[in-house]
Amino acid sequence: MSTAALFQPIKIRGLNLVNRIVIAPMCQYSAEEGCMNDWHLIHLGKLALSGAALLTIEATAVLPEGRITYADLGLWNERCYAAMGLVLESIRRWTDIPIGIQLSHAGRKASTEVPWKGGGQISPTEALGWQTVAPSELRDSKGMFPPDSLDKEGLKRVREAFAAAARRAAKLGLDLVQVHAAHGYLLHQFLSPLSNRRGDDYGGSLANRMRFPLEVFDAVRSEVPAEMPVSVRVSATDWVDGGWDLEQTLHFAAELQRRGCDAIHVSSGGLHPGQRIPVGPGYQVPLARRVKKEVKIPVVAVGLITGFDQAEAIVGTGDADMVALGRTIIFDPNWPWHAAAELGGKVRVPVQYLRSQPSRFGNLFANE
Ligand SMILES: Cc1cc2nc3c(=O)[nH]c(=O)nc-3n(C[C@H](O)[C@H](O)[C@H](O)COP(=O)(O)O)c2cc1C
Repeated sequence: MSTAALFQPIKIRGLNLVNRIVIAPMCQYSAEEGCMNDWHLIHLGKLALSGAALLTIEATAVLPEGRITYADLGLWNERCYAAMGLVLESIRRWTDIPIGIQLSHAGRKASTEVPWKGGGQISPTEALGWQTVAPSELRDSKGMFPPDSLDKEGLKRVREAFAAAARRAAKLGLDLVQVHAAHGYLLHQFLSPLSNRRGDDYGGSLANRMRFPLEVFDAVRSEVPAEMPVSVRVSATDWVDGGWDLEQTLHFAAELQRRGCDAIHVSSGGLHPGQRIPVGPGYQVPLARRVKKEVKIPVVAVGLITGFDQAEAIVGTGDADMVALGRTIIFDPNWPWHAAAELGGKVRVPVQYLRSQPSRFGNLFANE
């Protein structure tokens, strides 16, 4: 048994995770009409063999207009469902890594070009663009197009789309659903007073701004089996005066916990061009640490976690229960193997790879 904190198992509702390393959701902007293809098989297949405890599928739009770009994944119809099913079936034949999915709606940050073509917003009048929606008719920044404000019907449509996508995720046998309430996308737009200027029950007070994200959470939670965990990704602060901040996040996290949320994944920023983010190694860990003091459910830290000792310290000192890796694990898809070698942990690898273990690491690979 490893003594490394990073290699201790953890249980999230009905889901047993073998260690504390999570692969963060990462958009690939490579889908066709919302559907997965062989890129997703290669990409997710590679990460599935990494030795991490949980692989999270990228932000997956619950409605076509909820995509960040025209090449985002979706789960709004049976075609997307079937395409995802094929990819998952292949991955599952060869690895039993638990797989979660992040369900998302981009709100006013939708209808953009893919990053490698500049990432700018596409006008609703152009072929690849569409009219965006948001809590209020406030655009994200200069050069972007004003969104339509969601009316009661619109809110219902989004809520039901989250529920339907969650139902499909459960039917696909996915192990966890993550509701995306971070990075300036629709649910975060409701939370932040900078993007939510509504005068109805969904704007104004903190309780009102939290109302729609909480309704979406409830819709998702009630749609998936009782043993299936549902987590929420939050931006703990907008990093802008007068915006969404840590204090409000603590209220939100406590309310999510009360409603049956199983983990809070603590990120930050993404809502306002005026954000001033103190980027540096583990820069969001203090936010996770504070959220962890507030709730009893597992908390995930993310953001420039790159070192083995750094990750071990985050979990070992109790700053967070798990670490999520984004760019780090793209750069080094066997990061968990290397962490296990460094820290004295064990990772599960496919039998085909068993002979790759360098003898100096002794007992790095756990038995299947
Ligand atoms: C290529 C790329 C795509 C991303 N896509 C998503 C996404 O789909 N959903 C999300 O919540 N965050 C997304 N992020 C943010 C990451 O999940 C992560 O929070 C961020 O990169 C910080 O972690 P890191 O320093 O380990 O990369 C993305 C980041 C990258 C680099």
